Amino acid sequence: MTAPTFTPRVFSGIKPSGGLTLGNYLGAIKRWVDMQSEMESIYCVVDLHAITVWQDPAELKNGTREIAAGMLASGIDPAKSILFNQSQVPEHAQLAWIFNCVARLGWMNRMTQFKDKAGSNAEKASLGLYAYPSLMAADILLYHATHVPVGEDQKQHVELTRDIASKFNHDFKRDFFPITEPVIDGPATRVMNLRDGSKKMSKSGESDMERINMLDDADTIAKKFKKAKTDPAPLPETVDGLKDRAEARNLVEIYAALSDTTPEAVIADYPGAGWGTFKPALADLAVSKLAPISDEMKRLLNDPAEIDRTLAAGAQKARAIAAPVLDETYDIVGLLRG
Ligand code: TRP
Repeated sequence: MTAPTFTPRVFSGIKPSGGLTLGNYLGAIKRWVDMQSEMESIYCVVDLHAITVWQDPAELKNGTREIAAGMLASGIDPAKSILFNQSQVPEHAQLAWIFNCVARLGWMNRMTQFKDKAGSNAEKASLGLYAYPSLMAADILLYHATHVPVGEDQKQHVELTRDIASKFNHDFKRDFFPITEPVIDGPATRVMNLRDGSKKMSKSGESDMERINMLDDADTIAKKFKKAKTDPAPLPETVDGLKDRAEARNLVEIYAALSDTTPEAVIADYPGAGWGTFKPALADLAVSKLAPISDEMKRLLNDPAEIDRTLAAGAQKARAIAAPVLDETYDIVGLLRG
């Protein structure tokens, strides 16, 4: 059996549950914009993943449009990349079913995200939430994607994707699915909660003050940074001094990511600065970088039909890749088709 070579291809996705945050932008979308010039890229609004927990139907549609608008406004170019929402490509769900029959219960039981999300009330969690990682494996492998940029919290799911691909290839004695590489973001792009530096910035956290939403206006952004939790000490003279200062480090890292530089360079510009100096500078920087994106998002969201057309066109392109892969999978498995 000679190992086939797979064309380098990026796949990643964002769930449309709640709006788009600075964490999604700096941790994911901003990097995707760069990757689309380096490799064939497929970016997906994963609405089928969102419904593993309850979503209000009207909000779900608008949430899908908001994520798509955020990607477009940030520079994802539908002429270069494929941009679509997952449910318009039914092959995702079809391949996920096959993977449900490949993945083992023992593997699923080890998924820490399910344990975190289902909590102590796992009996009441949906079956979809449990099977979530198998759908994610289908998202990736349906396109024979070789590179998957994700946050650290998704690493275990990409490892499961590799396990599913290996078991499928082994069981059916075919090197059909690639063994995908996770492209894990560095700590510099992991944006933390503004009220608690030990937690990731999330769109579903209870207080709006803990996150920057991509649609926040300038005053709100400034207010949130000025009220962000910090310790009382000023900025250190070198980055080493940010160790064990989660909140301070987060603000420096956000500054660095927004200005395309490193935390070292930020500290070199603000050695020993007090928060009264640094926070307003960060707020100004954030407003200047985010305002053009949020203005463009608002413009796009004024014409939802146009976003819907863009996503439908993306779905057509995605299906052109996905359908032959699913057909071949059916043949390999022995599912009869006319
Ligand atoms: N589970 C991912 C998250 O919560 C979203 C996702 C779904 C995804 N399918 C994917 C990411 C495929 C990368 C590749 O962030």
